Amino acid sequence: MHKKFEFEYDLLSNASSLSEVDFELLEAAKKATKTAYAPYSNFHVGAAARLSSGSIVIGSNQESTSFPVGICAERTLLNSVGSQFPGLSIITMAISYQPLGKDSKEPISPCGMCRQSLLDYENRYGSPIKIILSGMSGEVMVLKSASLLLPFGFDGSMLK
Ligand code: THU
Repeated sequence: MHKKFEFEYDLLSNASSLSEVDFELLEAAKKATKTAYAPYSNFHVGAAARLSSGSIVIGSNQESTSFPVGICAERTLLNSVGSQFPGLSIITMAISYQPLGKDSKEPISPCGMCRQSLLDYENRYGSPIKIILSGMSGEVMVLKSASLLLPFGFDGSMLK
């Protein structure tokens, strides 16, 4: 049997097509790139989460002299929300990036580890996280759920 997997997303020509709250969240993600510690890659990533309370929490990538110890912006943020606001789900996460001395006009694409962490977070709260992916300018990608980024992801159900 042959099967096909597809998913849908919205591609906006620019951020001004976002709703007011999502535009604000993406702006927070862009601003969060300034808090990145990325002296090894010079690739500054910012992420912002809208919690079920309506408030915004930000995160950024934090690198290490021992390279694999560094952590991406998305997981910095998820770990921070999980520990500081354990009862609150994430409604939306926006992610952006600023490479030192370069343009960022294409939407960023989260790494595999972050996709797993995002899926874990969705399952933990039983609610989808809307994902907004963007550069500092240009097209913006909007996905209804982080799970779309990880087809056939490991959800832990086999551990039970
Ligand atoms: N990085 C993120 O923080 N998020 C992503 O979605 C992609 C990559 C970071 C990891 C590392 O600090 C730098 O960007 C270059 O890979």
